[in-house]
Amino acid sequence: MLPFRTRGYRTVPYGMFRLEDYGLAAKNARVLERIYHKGHQLAWDGKEVLQSLIEQHGKPTLAPREKEALGRVFSIIMWGELAAWRISAELADELEPLEAKMAATSQAFDEARHFYVMHDYLEALDALPKKMDRGAQALLEAVMNADHLAKKLLGMQLMIEPIALTLFHVVKKLDVEPVLSHLLPYYERDEARHVALGVQYLPAMLSQMSVSQRLSLWGFQFRLITYEIWSNYGLSRDLLVLGVDPREMLELGQGKQMKALEMLFEKSVVSSDIPMNILSRYADALSELTLPTFGTHRPFQDRVQAALRVMLHGSHVQSVELTPEVTAEQTPLIRQEEAAA
Ligand SMILES: [Fe+2]
Ligand SMILES: [Fe+2]
Repeated sequence: MLPFRTRGYRTVPYGMFRLEDYGLAAKNARVLERIYHKGHQLAWDGKEVLQSLIEQHGKPTLAPREKEALGRVFSIIMWGELAAWRISAELADELEPLEAKMAATSQAFDEARHFYVMHDYLEALDALPKKMDRGAQALLEAVMNADHLAKKLLGMQLMIEPIALTLFHVVKKLDVEPVLSHLLPYYERDEARHVALGVQYLPAMLSQMSVSQRLSLWGFQFRLITYEIWSNYGLSRDLLVLGVDPREMLELGQGKQMKALEMLFEKSVVSSDIPMNILSRYADALSELTLPTFGTHRPFQDRVQAALRVMLHGSHVQSVELTPEVTAEQTPLIRQEEAAA
């Protein structure tokens, strides 16, 4: 039986403990189970963390131009957290094997906290915009409305989470606003576990999918990459206001996505080289077209030529480490770590 039935009449899943029925390897199942227990041990109190950071660094403030730019960029994170919350709650409901269900349940709990804390932070900064960028909205809605759980899992955990991790990394490094810089390590700590859910469970899903379902999943990745680059283009002015080079950010994000996909295919029986190569050439060609290197004004014709070159001769995107090392000192209000220290 397929482990990703769409909504229908619910029956008691007596087979949920038989991993082999779902193509799930025992060692992957153990990692998934650990995600749940770690999520429980390393949970933090969002109200307490935000309050203590505001007491330490003062109420967040920025000049009006930076404040609006930061609000527009981080409202995508906020709505992205809601999308992640909904998708993980749906996965918790739909995935059948016990360990995968546990991991998704723990993620839903984390994402709820990420959503309300980001909302409270943006409100404290007085930077909560009414709507977000249209490209980003299209990206999130495509994943939320995908017609297969594998698309939701891959789209959310292995394509959107790495972009969020990239933004966290860049904004923290630039130290745009101190409360935010000290808040983000708490997020990064949790997000690393979420990527692991995709990496550990997707191979089982892929192994039970037909060729046409896999092709459809691959086509879906093209759609998401297109929305991602559209959204990066839409935000490029705001990113520049915050001191972030949009092209560099896109390349770093693609490097992290590539790392996530490499981790996935390492664990998978499905070969990946050719489809991944085509995907990254496509992504690179689109970025050549829309986001020429920072500071240069290349005519459109030159950009088309650069895009064609990439299509023909290959992409230069290198995979980069997905999740940063977050130390216990950076997350002092995670109780379990405090006790261990
Ligand atoms: Fe999150
Ligand atoms: Fe997440």
